[in-house]
Amino acid sequence: MGLLVLLQVLLVAAAAARAPAARAWGVEGHYMTCKIAEGLLTSEATTAVKGLLPGWANGELAGACSWPDIERRRMPWSGSLHFADTPGDCKFSYARDCHGPKGEKDMCVVGGINNYTAALQDSSSPYNRTESLLFLAHFLGDVHQPMHCGRTADLGGNTILVTWYSTAKTNLHKVWDDKVIQTAMSKFYKDDLSTMIDAIKLNLTEDWCTEENQWTACSTQTTTCADKYAEESAELSCPAYVGVGQYSNLEDEYFFPAMPVVEKRIAQGGVRLAAILNRIFSGENNSRLQSL
Ligand SMILES: *[C@@H]1O[C@H](CO)[C@@H](O)[C@H](O)[C@H]1NC(C)=O
Ligand SMILES: *[C@@H]1O[C@H](CO)[C@@H](O)[C@H](O)[C@H]1NC(C)=O
Ligand SMILES: *[C@@H]1O[C@H](CO)[C@@H](O)[C@H](O)[C@H]1NC(C)=O
Ligand SMILES: *[C@@H]1O[C@H](CO)[C@@H](O)[C@H](O)[C@H]1NC(C)=O
Ligand SMILES: [Zn+2]
Repeated sequence: MGLLVLLQVLLVAAAAARAPAARAWGVEGHYMTCKIAEGLLTSEATTAVKGLLPGWANGELAGACSWPDIERRRMPWSGSLHFADTPGDCKFSYARDCHGPKGEKDMCVVGGINNYTAALQDSSSPYNRTESLLFLAHFLGDVHQPMHCGRTADLGGNTILVTWYSTAKTNLHKVWDDKVIQTAMSKFYKDDLSTMIDAIKLNLTEDWCTEENQWTACSTQTTTCADKYAEESAELSCPAYVGVGQYSNLEDEYFFPAMPVVEKRIAQGGVRLAAILNRIFSGENNSRLQSL
């Protein structure tokens, strides 16, 4: 086999390995992010969002937030919009890192957030507004999952195979998408998603209430600040690699420090999504809201 052919085989294998996994937050993570956002919308934004939701969502944004993952096969062009991998220096740089697999400019999660925010803000945009809303809500979740700004070399942890509590074979990316959330649910929240959501919401009114204004603060009023969210994720991804090698077994000593990071990222994703939707649909520029 020639070197080029070998390289091609490896690339195809890598792409195949990535395909099912590279979604950032599994269904639960996206549901929680969007549920938290729903609780923080103004009445105008709630009405506008409900008006755009597809019928099958039954008026609930949270239930529709995994749509871009479900439809990803039908829309292969959207694949790279779910993440923004980095060289592993714990930093995200838009100019350097926000591109598609062939270097297509802006085709990363930050570009996607900017694209669909602008589309919803512009009533003359040719893009389908329902799809713009579902992409925006989904990508706000994705950009907060640290492994979605992980290293390009291991496809955001997808090629690092690990076992979880000596039983489940998985990879480092999926640990952050699903496993930490599922283990948290079973250890602390009676396997119940709404119990977990309530615990995170309680923190929004207590432990985090003094810092939440910072979460939505942005120096440039005109952007969504999505660069900042990706920078935070890139920074959080570095410690997530520490002590993890090929075929590591991860359990309590990995889970316990990871759980609060995951819960906070879900909270931040929700608060920021609400702030963006409120800004789009009711001209609000601050997300601090009455109705948690
Ligand atoms: C912007 O949205 C359109 C419509 O979905 C899509 O074709 C395009 O690739 C998107 N670009 C980015 C950077 O998200
Ligand atoms: C907009 O997108 C949704 C979801 O894909 C689809 O059901 C709907 O038919 C689209 N609307 C238009 C006008 O194309
Ligand atoms: C609540 O906030 C505290 C302090 O930041 C943190 O230790 C704890 O894990 C948080 N709990 C939840 C459910 O997010
Ligand atoms: C944004 O906030 C500033 C100060 O808080 C306020 O003066 C301004 O009217 C707000 N803009 C909109 C569009 O709500
Ligand atoms: Zn995704």
